[in-house]
Amino acid sequence: MNKKRLVVLTGAGMSAESGFKTFRDAGGLWENYNVEDVASIEGWYRNPELVTEFYNDLREQLEKAQPNEGHKILAELEKYFDVKIITQNVENLHERAGSSSVLHLHGELTKVCSVNDTSKNFDIGYRRVKYGEKNSDGELLRPFIVWFGEAVPLIGKAAELVRSADIFVVVGSSLVVYPAAGLIHDMRGSTQGYLIDPQEVSIPRGVNFKIIRDVASSGLAKLRDELLKDLN
Ligand code: OAD
Repeated sequence: MNKKRLVVLTGAGMSAESGFKTFRDAGGLWENYNVEDVASIEGWYRNPELVTEFYNDLREQLEKAQPNEGHKILAELEKYFDVKIITQNVENLHERAGSSSVLHLHGELTKVCSVNDTSKNFDIGYRRVKYGEKNSDGELLRPFIVWFGEAVPLIGKAAELVRSADIFVVVGSSLVVYPAAGLIHDMRGSTQGYLIDPQEVSIPRGVNFKIIRDVASSGLAKLRDELLKDLN
């Protein structure tokens, strides 16, 4: 029998229980940093050393972090569903938990790319980089992150995935950053929608989600139980 397609859009809340700060919650990353300085293309041109160090620090933090129970549940659900993950997160905790299909909308912390062409990107693992490093073509390298003010090259592919979903789940995203937030409008009418978040997330009228008001680990455990009950 064909497995149903389960598409999951994750945001920073997915990794909060792995010790990663979210962006907009109290105590979140954007309380300590100016988003314009470290997550915009203008910020990069103003002070590339500062931006390089910011992502070096996050990369170092990532090496020590572990996937949480929520990441593991999503990987385990591949036994029963055709799971496709779309993440706004730049860390690799979904992959490390065992998920086999992960689309990174906002780039990847363990990669760098050419400043001239972000499609020329490659893995650097967890090492710190120095501003001024170049690729083999002599082009200056930068973190492989999609910053504010830049196009999101994988958004079309992500929208296609959402349109193909039998079940669509949003976990741990405030849904305020576009174009990612707009993906909820690509959900078909027949798709079962779920939203897992401990806080209230504002959802436009006409978008039907069953709300699970919980953190990622226990919220996804509830979802798993409900989905598996429906399978039997
Ligand atoms: P936000 O920080 O805006 O939202 C995090 C969401 O996670 C909020 O709705 C929280 O209530 C929820 N949350 C907190 N703890 C949680 C937990 N333990 N389990 C589940 N949910 C929890 O993060 P994003 O929506 O991911 O972009 O932000 C989107 C983009 O904005 C990011 O990808 C980043 C940022 O600027 C770039 O850096 C380009």
